[in-house]
Amino acid sequence: MAESCYVRVLFLLLLVVTPLPISIASPLKLRLSASEVAALEAHAPPPPPPPPPDTPTTYFEVDRPHRPPPGSFGPCSTLLLSHSFGFTYTLPPVTAPYSPPPCLAAAGGRASAISLAVLEWRATCRGVQFDRIFGVWLGGVELLRSCTAEPRPKGVVWSVSKDVTKYASLLAARNSSTLAVYLGNLVNDQYTGVYHANVTLHLYFRHPPQPGLGPADVIVPISQSLPLNSGQWFQINNNEDVESASLAVPANAYRAVLEVYLSYHGSDEFWYTYGNPFNGNGPFREVTVRIDGDVVGAVWPFPVIYTGGISPFLWRPISGIGSFNLPSYDIELTPFLGWLLDGEEHELGFAVTDAQDFWYVDGNLHLWLDPRSAATTAGIISYDAPPLEKVTAVASRGPGNEYYQTTAFRSISAAGWVQTSSYGKITATWTQRFSFVNTNQVREDTEKTVNQTTDAYSGVHVTDHSGVAYSQEAEQSFPLYIYQGQVNQTSNDSFTEETSVQLRFEEERVAAGRPGFWSRSLSNAQDSAVDVRVQEGDAVGTSWRAAQTYRYEATDGCYYRDVASQGYGVVSDHADEVCAKGSPAAGRAIAGGAATELGGDAAAAAGVARLSS
Ligand SMILES: *[C@@H]1O[C@H](CO)[C@@H](O)[C@H](O)[C@H]1NC(C)=O
Ligand SMILES: *[C@@H]1O[C@H](CO)[C@@H](O)[C@H](O)[C@H]1NC(C)=O
Ligand SMILES: *[C@@H]1O[C@H](CO)[C@@H](O)[C@H](O)[C@H]1NC(C)=O
Ligand SMILES: *[C@@H]1O[C@H](CO)[C@@H](O)[C@H](O)[C@H]1NC(C)=O
Ligand SMILES: *[C@@H]1O[C@H](CO)[C@@H](O)[C@H](O)[C@H]1NC(C)=O
Repeated sequence: MAESCYVRVLFLLLLVVTPLPISIASPLKLRLSASEVAALEAHAPPPPPPPPPDTPTTYFEVDRPHRPPPGSFGPCSTLLLSHSFGFTYTLPPVTAPYSPPPCLAAAGGRASAISLAVLEWRATCRGVQFDRIFGVWLGGVELLRSCTAEPRPKGVVWSVSKDVTKYASLLAARNSSTLAVYLGNLVNDQYTGVYHANVTLHLYFRHPPQPGLGPADVIVPISQSLPLNSGQWFQINNNEDVESASLAVPANAYRAVLEVYLSYHGSDEFWYTYGNPFNGNGPFREVTVRIDGDVVGAVWPFPVIYTGGISPFLWRPISGIGSFNLPSYDIELTPFLGWLLDGEEHELGFAVTDAQDFWYVDGNLHLWLDPRSAATTAGIISYDAPPLEKVTAVASRGPGNEYYQTTAFRSISAAGWVQTSSYGKITATWTQRFSFVNTNQVREDTEKTVNQTTDAYSGVHVTDHSGVAYSQEAEQSFPLYIYQGQVNQTSNDSFTEETSVQLRFEEERVAAGRPGFWSRSLSNAQDSAVDVRVQEGDAVGTSWRAAQTYRYEATDGCYYRDVASQGYGVVSDHADEVCAKGSPAAGRAIAGGAATELGGDAAAAAGVARLSS
């Protein structure tokens, strides 16, 4: 099976009687074939104003621009890799040697000289092609997980810019390393699209470097090593699979955070649509992180819909939230350093609860090292990871009418201490709490709805002899609503097939400690809909629209964008970076004085109060 976002289409192609005009399969149809898309595209209204011939369409994911902190200079831009991805499926990743750009050496060469690092992926493609998943790794550490845009006959162009400052130690490491990109593409007579892509690194510098707890000192990949004929991710095929790497943690580590990357494909691309627990394992999925088999953290994923998912028109030209830049998730492992720092190797593993084939999962272990000693000592104080609670309620009111509700809960907590030379004895606590509710409903066999919300809380508190050294709390909420049904029916085979998707990424984050205080709030809401008019069983026209509102308010600035599209055209677009009165940017004065010592307790208490209220 192709290692791409779409795979399931192979199955659907068998079900769909393909020759034009197309027939509409019963809801909920999650993939259209290339010929169906082409047929619908032929009926697409011209965007206002009609584009000049041969101009590629620009697709974009709504995101905030990355602004360097005040006083930075740059950027210094370096093209790291340029490649045309033709037939690349099951071939080794495309690689390029990496060493720090000369401008970084000129700025002193230290990781702490980097005030902002942005990785840019820019690509074009024309013809016919599926959405393909791809990954970018540096020395086995994943920097970006993404999905390609699906091309049009006259071409598309898109770019992704990702803040990669947290990988500064890797970008500045003096020994040479390898940049690897795996994008498994298939090219043949029907699927003609070749992806032409550039990967560029933009660096901004500060002078002098800031003190305080910056990015990790070392990042250890928990992924597969080169050479191989695939991406460096692990593949997880079912509920029992555990994929792991063994590693020995540097003896002077005092903080550890595991960053998890994931994507789902094949039978699990639309995991949230399996209402029935006896069909496709039901709608709940989570990635669990294990140390020597014990669950130490979990990820309840944001439901990214790839650019070809449900109907590709839903995501043109405004791509789905996270589709061009899949989120990664942090698990604080500091409380477990007591297990990891015994001088032995340990297995860091991943599993996916209720998985079907297949998931791509890997991780980056971010480690902070004690500058004043060759070895720290650590111990675990408490650890509690009760089993997952999951319940499905079923109601069936005759054939074609079904209702399933699945709920799930989980909590994980741990505390541990680390004895350091630089900071004395520190104590870290880590808490995760999750809840999930999913309803899947089918009515009269013609209407299907999925309504799901995942809520996740995580908190880390690190104290030393003088109080709170570092504290961060995050609350995330990921609502998803999908409707597909037949409306305006004039006869049994003449109607409008309406599909709509509402996707939300909501996040509140506050952090406090000696380096300062910050808070970030993001509300990203996207509504898309597509109508296909069907007459006597044939699709005769299509129209689609999308609207998105992005509100980011933080101590380091604000960004708002309100954008709407109809067909391929953007019909309204408003953006600004002026913080509204009363937004957290009012606290900017505090954050600006990063070098001043905060009353740690007070700042942390303020942060906690804000999140837990
Ligand atoms: C990649 O970079 C090359 C060299 O600068 C340029 O000619 C090409 O147009 C770029 N491709 C894309 C997709 O931006
Ligand atoms: C570069 O150095 C780092 C840390 O010293 C080490 O972990 C890594 O394996 C080295 N990479 C290569 C390619 O030698
Ligand atoms: C989805 O379910 C939630 C409860 O979990 C409810 O509050 C919300 O109104 C539902 N959304 C829709 C569009 O029905
Ligand atoms: C259904 O028909 C009504 C009345 O003609 C029209 O206003 C509406 O836009 C139609 N809905 C769709 C989804 O086509
Ligand atoms: C339309 O569908 C209904 C229910 O399936 C069926 O009873 C009826 O005979 C159909 N009408 C036509 C004209 O096919």
